[in-house]
Amino acid sequence: MADDRTASVFGNLPGQPAGPCAMVIFGAAGDLTKRKLIPALYNLARSDLLPREFAIVGVARAPLTTDEFRQRMTREIQEFATDQVEPGLWEWFAQRLHYLPGNFEAPQVYPELRKLLETVDREHGTRGNYFYYLATSPGFFAGVTRRLGEVGLVQEENGRWRRVIIEKPFGQDLDSAIALNRALGAILAERQIYRIDHYLGKETVQNILVLRFANGIFEPIWNRRYIDHVQITVAETVGVEQRGNYYEEAGALRDMVPNHIFQLITLTAMEPPISFEANAVRDEQAKILRAIQPLTPEEVLARTVRGQYGGGKVEGERVPAYPSEVKVPPDSKTETFVALKLSIDNWRWADVPFYLRTGKRLPARVTEIAIQFKRAPFILFRKTPVEHLTPNQLVVHIQPDEGISLSFDAKIPGALVRLGTVNMAFQYKDYFGTKPSTGYERLLYDCMTGDATLFQRADMVETGWTVVAPILDLWNALPPRSFPNYAAGTWGPPEADELMERDGRQWRGIEK
Ligand code: BG6
Repeated sequence: MADDRTASVFGNLPGQPAGPCAMVIFGAAGDLTKRKLIPALYNLARSDLLPREFAIVGVARAPLTTDEFRQRMTREIQEFATDQVEPGLWEWFAQRLHYLPGNFEAPQVYPELRKLLETVDREHGTRGNYFYYLATSPGFFAGVTRRLGEVGLVQEENGRWRRVIIEKPFGQDLDSAIALNRALGAILAERQIYRIDHYLGKETVQNILVLRFANGIFEPIWNRRYIDHVQITVAETVGVEQRGNYYEEAGALRDMVPNHIFQLITLTAMEPPISFEANAVRDEQAKILRAIQPLTPEEVLARTVRGQYGGGKVEGERVPAYPSEVKVPPDSKTETFVALKLSIDNWRWADVPFYLRTGKRLPARVTEIAIQFKRAPFILFRKTPVEHLTPNQLVVHIQPDEGISLSFDAKIPGALVRLGTVNMAFQYKDYFGTKPSTGYERLLYDCMTGDATLFQRADMVETGWTVVAPILDLWNALPPRSFPNYAAGTWGPPEADELMERDGRQWRGIEK
């Protein structure tokens, strides 16, 4: 068994229940609530991390009573819980669920919410500490916050705290992100705003910092002298599912890059922070985002690839082309695949390209960060049968099969000098077992305890959009001519391979 000294990435090891508080979920009848939020809160209760003085108020348009809401959640937890539901504990939990039907744009809902919260405070001892989870479509983020402000529900007085969690997407582009930051900033202090990115709830993502900064052997070689390039793959086998409306507006670039993939890049590339305090970590992440060079129009043409899936076979099943999916127009020009080559122009990373690719309907579901080291000099092997040396790769496997592996060349036993590439692999499940979780537990707990380390700051989202803006601009100006351009079940269009081949490199072969 491993010992657990490094169990907490950021210092404040969860272990104590959070203080008294109520959570208000806007969009409580939606998917996120039943699939992630309620199961995550239930898991927190099971781990003794929810306060005894706790309550949840669901707000949504569906005309339900509190009793009906409790019944609905009681049914749904059976389907979405990550583990067996203990009836006694669920009973306790369900007693803390309340519901308020209402349209988020109707001003009368907010005084009603305030009254309900006063009742909740009396019944459950939640002491006026509230956090709001906006699990709504983005069009409501600013309006809901403003109305909460108007009825005094975000003001922090007499030692009470009030926080707002904002789901992605945070804006559609730089201008809309700035506008949203302004609208929120007019009502809330930055420390009250928790911009969530569920990638930061993943253990393996948090572990990047532990790998880098709790071990002596990696940091000395984590730079341009030893690293040839970095490749990040976020591959999904699923298609666009029922989300055609949203996805048509977003596309793969907006959906995955300025948020999830930039989290992976910043944690991989950042300098050691001066502490694990929220702003110390986020300052270093922000510096990396600022150092990513926005591409010129010529560079967009040379260093970006977009794709859209056609029909094909994924995991043995025939699947339709993107333009035949539900809620997608037949002449859609939306990309479902992106590959990019980015540069981080700072002292550590000058001349070390970061290649990234993400897409839907690819052959495997895999998220990983591969650090490829420089090849060893060949000189000694010139007069041997060895034809080439394989560069070492350190791969952080984010999901599934969470782990870390290091590949290196070894001598194949025998009279001749022949080399084989072997792998030294650590798998989380071998050491720590698997603890089923939704990935939202840590983030909700952190919000309740006021730790914003794993949430995005205003400047970070804006800088992220600044990086992708020139790509969006050029792509809009030059619509793709040959979509769909990759078959479902393949690794994207051939141009994605060419992007690497031009630099004498190739994408890591990922087994299905
Ligand atoms: C979401 C995107 O943010 O992340 C989805 O909107 C995507 O399109 C999902 O499928 C991927 O998350 P995960 O945790 O399955 O890698």
